[in-house]
Amino acid sequence: MDICIVGTGYVGLVSAACFAEMGNNVYCVDVNPDVVETLNQGRVHIFEPGLEELVRRNRDQGRLHFTPDIREGLDNSLFVFICVGTPPGEDGRADLGFVRQVARDVGRSMQEYKIVVDKSTVPVGTADMVRELIQSELDSRGLELEFDVVSNPEFLKEGDAVSDFMKPDRVIVGTDNIRTAELLRVLYSPFARSREKMMVMGVRSAEMTKYAANCMLATKISFINEIANICEKVGADIGDVRRGIGSDHRIGYHFIYPGVGFGGSCFPKDVSALISTAHEQEYTPSLLRAVEDVNRSQKKVLARKVQEYFSELGGVQGKTLAMWGLAFKANTDDVREAPALEIIKELTASGMQIKAYDPQAGENAARVLQDNPGVEVVKDQYSVLQGAHALAVVTEWNQFRNPDLKRIKSELEIPVIFDGRNLYPPRMLEEMGFSYFCMGRQPVLNSLAGKAEGQSLIS
Ligand code: UDX
Repeated sequence: MDICIVGTGYVGLVSAACFAEMGNNVYCVDVNPDVVETLNQGRVHIFEPGLEELVRRNRDQGRLHFTPDIREGLDNSLFVFICVGTPPGEDGRADLGFVRQVARDVGRSMQEYKIVVDKSTVPVGTADMVRELIQSELDSRGLELEFDVVSNPEFLKEGDAVSDFMKPDRVIVGTDNIRTAELLRVLYSPFARSREKMMVMGVRSAEMTKYAANCMLATKISFINEIANICEKVGADIGDVRRGIGSDHRIGYHFIYPGVGFGGSCFPKDVSALISTAHEQEYTPSLLRAVEDVNRSQKKVLARKVQEYFSELGGVQGKTLAMWGLAFKANTDDVREAPALEIIKELTASGMQIKAYDPQAGENAARVLQDNPGVEVVKDQYSVLQGAHALAVVTEWNQFRNPDLKRIKSELEIPVIFDGRNLYPPRMLEEMGFSYFCMGRQPVLNSLAGKAEGQSLIS
């Protein structure tokens, strides 16, 4: 089949490469000529495991084309996928400026029947808006052309995007048109091989499904973070509690890992967008507001632990913190809404210096942090430790899971670790003489090697 994909971000590029891999002929359109140029050279402008290889192979085999010209993509395709960004506006609502622009461009350029597919995460009612915009452009051209607008939200996770697309849990298609649904079924049949995986429903239900899924997952995370905070207070261990509740199949083990709060380009934006949608309908979404509130304060928890620890050592001012992890989660270079940025903001505002390392997100973080003189982004995992008074682990990259603890101990001025992802066994760190603070578990306070030594350091 011939497909046009507008927008070459995570969703657009992954979808394009995966459709091309199944033999489809795919035109990717992006307004940014630099991005088109990079992709035409077989390089990928975002970090996503396996994506560059997939893009290069399909480009080399002539099934994947990149162009800044939407007309070129449209003329060659039956399907037009809208995969542009819907960033949060100042009022928390999704900004649909890019989606509107694509809809107008489609209306201005199309010459025959098209199936327009909304893949961007968009509020309920957007498909109707897209339909009206296309129709009004056709009207002003004096053309009577048929088209369909379908909602087909994407559920891929950064870091696993290619395999999520190749093996989806489900494919949601929102349309009332049986023929369109059948064509999409054919398009998706190599990915959703069993018939039940493809769920056809009304357009508004499909749009709502995407928000409901992300808000449910965000709710699980805020829930477990709240339970973790209570565990700390009452002397319980969140690891045990998680196992205890996860074994109930109605609850399950997934997405109940406590941590530094959820970040990324989806959860924070989608929770806030659904809150706005509810308000527009004069409904008060108390639970969603609580999910957001818990997350906002959870992003400050690790910084508060650092501040509390150093308060007995003269405060954080003039101290240096080594930080492992800047990306909002492992296996991505994305720092959008990353908890690390919040932690850095809190601590540098109190006068702490931060030396940070991330396997992939260093460059993106350095760009965002360029006006903050309190932070230095370093290219080596262990050199951040030199001269630092403590280590904070913020992202759960695999290479942080079994680190050289002896080296950490010898490099740090005070052997203390603040672990936002519960990566290490507290008993082992205790035996090695570390002080260790984690999330929802009791801290290890190693007075001999920890604070006492620290005190002499600042006196
Ligand atoms: C998410 C959804 O998972 C995906 O289906 C949707 O299409 C887009 O949004 P993504 O933002 O890539 O994907 O990341 P995800 O792996 O879901 O993690 C989101 C955030 O939640 C991260 O900050 C992560 O660290 C945090 N998280 C996740 C937890 O704190 N605990 C968990 O148990 C799981």
